[in-house]
This record gives sequence, C-alpha cells and structure tokens, in this order.
Amino acid sequence: MEDGKDFGTVIRINQTRYPTVRSLQFFLIFIVLGLLVSIISMNTIKYFGVGSAAPVASSFNIVQPGVEGLSDIDSWISPSSNLLHSMSDQELLWRASLVPQGKEYPFNRVRKIAFMFLTKGPLPMAPLWERFFKGHEGLYSIYIHANPSYIADFLPSSVFYRRQIPSQVTEWGEMNLCDAERRLLANALLDISNEWFILLSEACVPLHSFTMVYDYLARSRHSFVHSFDDPGPYGRGRYNKNMAPKINLTNWRKGYQWFEVTRELAVKIVKDKTYYSLFKKYCKPTCYVDEHYFQTMLSMESPNLLANRSLTFVDWSRGGAHPATFGKYDITEQFIKNLFENKRCLNNGQPSFCFLFARKFAPSALDRLLDVAHNVMGF
Ligand SMILES: *[C@@H]1O[C@H](CO)[C@@H](O)[C@H](O)[C@H]1NC(C)=O
Ligand SMILES: *[C@@H]1O[C@H](CO)[C@@H](O)[C@H](O)[C@H]1NC(C)=O
Repeated sequence: MEDGKDFGTVIRINQTRYPTVRSLQFFLIFIVLGLLVSIISMNTIKYFGVGSAAPVASSFNIVQPGVEGLSDIDSWISPSSNLLHSMSDQELLWRASLVPQGKEYPFNRVRKIAFMFLTKGPLPMAPLWERFFKGHEGLYSIYIHANPSYIADFLPSSVFYRRQIPSQVTEWGEMNLCDAERRLLANALLDISNEWFILLSEACVPLHSFTMVYDYLARSRHSFVHSFDDPGPYGRGRYNKNMAPKINLTNWRKGYQWFEVTRELAVKIVKDKTYYSLFKKYCKPTCYVDEHYFQTMLSMESPNLLANRSLTFVDWSRGGAHPATFGKYDITEQFIKNLFENKRCLNNGQPSFCFLFARKFAPSALDRLLDVAHNVMGF
C-alpha cells in the first residue's frame, strides 16, 4: 500500500512537468496496477476466504484518492431532502425502476404513505391537510406536481415547503397528465420508505384522521385502483382495435383517475413501456387516457392485487363530464358523515368505510371544513 501512495505522488510531479503524453502513460500504468491488485484480491477471496482478503481490499481503497470513512446503511436509505433534480423523464423513470421493492429489509423500515398532489398551482385546502398531518411526522411524505409557471410560497414551517418536484405542463385527458402521474410516482419511489402512493388533487380533502388512513392501508392486501369493464360507449366504445393483440377489447378497463397503489404496482407503472406506447398512440380524446391506461394495464398485469374501487369519493350524480363541486353552503357535519357512512365496502373481508378522501371541494369550503373536521373527521 505504501507503493500505491508513492505512485500517486509521482503522477502529480510528472503532471506538472509533462502535462500530456507522460502523464497519460503513468495514468495507464496506474490503472493497470489497480486492476492487478483487484484481480489478486478477488482471487485471494476465492482461495483463502474473505477474512484474509480484507487487508488487500482495504489497501486498494487507500490507493483511491478521496475515500474517507465508510458510509453506513443510513446514508443509502435516507431520502434526499432536496426534491429538485435535473433528470429527464426518461432518466428519472429508469432510476425509479431500479429501487428496492421486496418485502424484507435488513433494517427496521418504517413504511410511509406518499401523498402525491397533482395540481395546477395553489393548494387551497392546505390548512386542512396541515392539521391532518400534524403529529405524524416520519409516516408520510408529500410530493407536489404543479404547473411549471407556478411559484409556491409555503412557509418553512409548512409540510408543503419545498415539496414541489420538477414539473411540466398537463392538459385534461392528454397523455401528459399520465406523464405527470408517473413523474410523481417516480420521485416518490426514490424514498425507499414510501410503501403506499396516493394521487390527490387540490380539490381533495381527507375524510378521516391520519391514523385511520394509515391503518386502513396497512391492513389491506389490495391497491385501490378503480377499474371495471364498462360495455357502453364511454367504456368499450373508446377502445381502439389497433391496440390488439397486446390489449384486446376484453382487457379494456375504465375507472377514476384518483388511485392508491402499493410500491410493487408503482414500480410496474414507472417501468411500463409496452402499454404506454399503445395508449399514447391510440387513446386520444375522446378516449381519456387517465381513465383507461393504469386501469387497463394493472388489471392485466396484477388483477389479484386490485380492489377495483377508489378511496376517493366523487359525486357524479349531477351528470355531465365533470363531477359536482361542493362549496361553503354544502358543508355540514351531516353532509360529511353521509359521504363516508352511506356506503360500506369490504377491506380484506372486513366491513369498512369505502372512502378515505373526497372531492371536489371549492376553496370557499375550507373554513366550514376546518369547523367540522374535529367532530366528524377526527382531526
Ligand atoms: C388477444 O387475442 C388474441 C387472439 O385471440 C390472442 O392471441 C392474444 O393472446 C390476446 N391478447 C391478450 C393480451 O390476451
Ligand atoms: C378486480 O378485478 C379483477 C379483474 O379485472 C379480478 O380478477 C379481481 O379479483 C378483482 N378484485 C377483487 C378484490 O374483487
């Protein structure tokens, strides 16, 4: 190992005297020597076992400049506090598809919920969410995809402070909407503690306490993706037969955009290339890709992992292309209770609430929601 150190010095001296050809020669010799040492150490491991090889291996480390101290597991598993990066979508999706996704980890992994807000800009319901999250630090992470022109102004004390991810423009019903959802999933996957991934909008509110939401997800074997076979013109009617034979009419599914998926399915979504290219090519308005892509793909890839229902209440009873929006005068304790008490669903065979979240709420509803949250929603 002394040899290695001296060698480094020689290179530096020679670099100053002969900056080009000679330093290149020395550099090559250096690399060859490095390779030799590693080959020797690998063979030593083979023949004499790890114990005796360790000194050789560590002396090789000393030869490399800049290796100071040994990083422990924490430095590999703790998430970056800075969500900004300069990766392209292609690079980001590739990176996110490489993350761990097993069930077992050699350390105590506290599972977190990733709340992914797909918004145009401001989050009018932020004060309600702040209350919902309060006291549950370490069990959730937040990601916001907003219009790129929007500049967020959350205070450092806010749970939303610096939670924006690099974003791009989205349009209703277009593929770039699913691109944004995949971008959210990919960014959230980089934190290996995130186990459940929930897509929300600025018009969504929680209907129960954080603890209830966490227990509900932890208890379930399913991902809550609304997915069903609709024989009508707005379901099968939007299928394009050019998608066959990879996607046949019988595979075609429809459902609400607002999903919850486990880590396993999130990785499937960011990895997908096959279904993505077919939907991009053949599902354009009046085929709304956010109502069909993940719903169809996941029901083909992992039908047994889907609950086929959404956790987010939406009121379509008024008809039309957009659901009802609730304002200030709609909000009473009874109104909120009705949203989750009127219907019961099974969660792993146990009778449970169907909905953990609801939309759409106008900004004017905020104050009334804050008034009733403690009594009916439990936070
Ligand atoms: C679609 O149908 C064709 C013809 O029946 C079949 O060969 C193909 O495997 C089907 N595709 C899927 C994904 O089931
Ligand atoms: C969801 O639908 C798929 C078919 O698309 C089915 O195989 C699966 O069993 C359903 N899940 C539940 C919980 O019923």
